[in-house]
Amino acid sequence: MNVLTRGSIESLGSPLARVVEVHEALGSTQERARELARSEMPHGTLVVAKVQTGGRGRRGRRWGSPVGGLWMSLVLRPDFDASLAPRITQTAAVGLSKALWNFGLEARIKWPNDLLVAGRKVCGILAESGAKHGPAGPGRPPAGTRRLDYVVLGVGMNVNLDPADLAVPDREVTTVRSELGRDVDLLRLLRVLLSNLDVELRRIENFGAVLEDWRALNCTLGECVRVTRFGETFDGRAVDLSPEGALLLETPRGIVELFEGEIKHLRHGVTEDS
Ligand code: BTN
Repeated sequence: MNVLTRGSIESLGSPLARVVEVHEALGSTQERARELARSEMPHGTLVVAKVQTGGRGRRGRRWGSPVGGLWMSLVLRPDFDASLAPRITQTAAVGLSKALWNFGLEARIKWPNDLLVAGRKVCGILAESGAKHGPAGPGRPPAGTRRLDYVVLGVGMNVNLDPADLAVPDREVTTVRSELGRDVDLLRLLRVLLSNLDVELRRIENFGAVLEDWRALNCTLGECVRVTRFGETFDGRAVDLSPEGALLLETPRGIVELFEGEIKHLRHGVTEDS
């Protein structure tokens, strides 16, 4: 088994690992990558931690990050308007899902940012962006538009661990080890993840094609779901994604378009958390 070190990761030659930091233990790779993004580090700055002591998921939830997982955050600098930032999550989900299929895992995307294997969460994605106001002037974006300055893409993948190591008894989680019945080489996994992420991010302008793959890989469309957003709850059937990647929910009040929210799949009257 290869060891994840700065040198071994840099030797992958990935455009998404131009600058690499590997920490034995860190509060959160997400916070460190954000610091690096704010200090002008380039696209492809990658922070990896073997253990996170303050890993966090969406909505500030704690993210258990013991040794054996792949806990990483990437600084991306896509050259587009801030309004397109939500594309990153779906695009990353497609790349990460395809990478896991490469390892023989049938990873399905659960809207908006989870990857499941056999219905259990194996990976969470956290994309957080920073924008700047476009300067006015000829050849520049119109005043008032906001360019994306950076996106920090956090990936938490349960790899060479047992589900019990994650200490989240209330949640349905799985790990690569428990699905494959063996450990995988983290460097090889990282190489395949970065390569698939890079391919998908390069075609983000052609978002329709990314969404076609998203549709083929997801496990949310067609399901009856409950989505909570800003304290409001919507029950309905997930029918499709909009051209910009919002979930289209068919509810008794009509179609609702949602870019974010907490989702529960409803089965036989029972709700299933992610
Ligand atoms: C979620 O499903 O809520 C998203 C989880 C994202 C966890 C990753 S682990 C690496 C990076 N650092 C963090 O503190 N969080 C993200």
